[in-house]
Amino acid sequence: MHTEHTVADRGDIHDERILILDFGGQTTQLIARRVREAGVYCEIRPWSVDGDEALAFGARGVILSGGPESVVDDGSPRIPEALLAAKLPMLGICYGMQALVAQLGGRVARASDFGEFGYASVRVTGECALLDGLRDRLADAGADEGVAPELDVWMSHGDRVEALPEAFRTVGTSENAPFAAMADDTGTRFGIQFHPEVTHTRQGAEMLERFVRGVCGCTGAWTPGNIVEDAVARARERVGDEAVLLGLSGGVASSVVAALLHRAVGDRLTCVFVDNGLLRQGEGDRVMATFAESLGVRVIRVDAEARFLDALAGVTDPEAKRRIIGELFVRVFDEEAAKLGDVPWLAQGTIYPDVIESAGSGTGGGAHLIKSHHNVGGLPEDMRMGLVEPLRELFKDEVRRIGLELGLPETMVMRHPFPGPGLGVRILGEVRKEFADTLRAADAIYIEALHAHGLHDTVSQAFAVFVPVKSVGVTGDGRRYAHVIALRAVETVDFMTARAAHLPYEFLDEVSRRICNSLPGVSRVVYDVSSKPPGTIEWE
Ligand code: XMP
Repeated sequence: MHTEHTVADRGDIHDERILILDFGGQTTQLIARRVREAGVYCEIRPWSVDGDEALAFGARGVILSGGPESVVDDGSPRIPEALLAAKLPMLGICYGMQALVAQLGGRVARASDFGEFGYASVRVTGECALLDGLRDRLADAGADEGVAPELDVWMSHGDRVEALPEAFRTVGTSENAPFAAMADDTGTRFGIQFHPEVTHTRQGAEMLERFVRGVCGCTGAWTPGNIVEDAVARARERVGDEAVLLGLSGGVASSVVAALLHRAVGDRLTCVFVDNGLLRQGEGDRVMATFAESLGVRVIRVDAEARFLDALAGVTDPEAKRRIIGELFVRVFDEEAAKLGDVPWLAQGTIYPDVIESAGSGTGGGAHLIKSHHNVGGLPEDMRMGLVEPLRELFKDEVRRIGLELGLPETMVMRHPFPGPGLGVRILGEVRKEFADTLRAADAIYIEALHAHGLHDTVSQAFAVFVPVKSVGVTGDGRRYAHVIALRAVETVDFMTARAAHLPYEFLDEVSRRICNSLPGVSRVVYDVSSKPPGTIEWE
């Protein structure tokens, strides 16, 4: 097929790439996001990756992540020898540094007495491309110490390096880590005991940028504009002049896929938007206004509220509710697809964290299991369509940035996550239309107030929950025996753990009054202060 641009003649924005070797650390994905923010493409592979495969990836440099294990233990994770032998630029972080030290002939000791967790101060004691000229403050000038730059960093280590490998020298020390930072003679290999990817390490993003650009020589082609151009070109190449179908939910990912594919293939994209009656207030109209009216995307809106509510009648078990909603979604979607005749391509909003988790790398153990129930809907097995997943290599923050680049409204791109089963998981017990209507109205008051007070974007997710418990209240005209609305707002980075947001009391007071005053079906409002764990974000 002829396209205006092909990937080959534009130069590929993936050419300059960094490999991140994952030793199971909590913040590996954060390293990848920082590298991307520095304008450089990167991918994460588990430390156990085959050495030749790791080399074939063609990285300009390698970052070794932190991890929970001890290099002192037999059988603990190691850097593939082939990768070490290739003498690529390398930056070891925490466990990654210790692995580098152990494998290159230095010494690491178990040092429970010397562990450092949390804030630490690192004194820069030697020259190196990573740290030169950086400082958060100057050390107190002691009698014979001179004035050295000091950096605020975030540490999390039990073991510590006790002797450096040959050809390495120390370039930073902290109170409990005499070798807090090291660099080698070639100026291309480094180890740092602290975590540059977390914001508590104030100059951390700068250090990572210096490594991937200065040391590894990447130029920074990974920008939102280039990502869009590249994704559009690749979608055109994949789809050719055939038709594509997309399930549009109004969520960030499917919205961005719709805008992207519309740019790539225009009218050959058809979106199906299933209104299951479990959406937020005004959501269906909003989706139609943004896509069908403003962007001119072909969207088929299916009003399936009655079917969903019928199927859910009398069902109280949360897992049964999820299953019913998921299965019915697939059926309704399938029926619409059949009406369109033979559509060879199905688009999906899969993003990079989904890919990492299903490959068993990334955040490790429990993460995959907990999230598996989130894949509601999906592809019926007998639907023989090819998949188009234009966001497959992007993190959520990148998806948002390219959504803006594609001209989607900020309110849509910055939305909080909304679960596939919608209000079905926010109405406890049986789902009924009158409960859904009450919840929608309460939620709308809450979200609108969050926006009005400038609080919406300070929390990661906020919503109201319908609690089907009746309690007595009193209103101007007498006694009210009605249901409870719970408000939830959380702060989180990865949605795996979260804490309840400390919303101002006056704000909660105002929202509570507005909900009770305008909704006769509600007698009281409560605020959920539970963290995750032990709570989850949704109530179900
Ligand atoms: P929990 O309740 O497990 O939620 O702490 C973590 C995050 O996942 C969202 N969530 C879902 N997202 N389909 C989705 O697309 C689902 O079935 C689903 N269930 C929960 C939840 O809103 C939170 O952001």
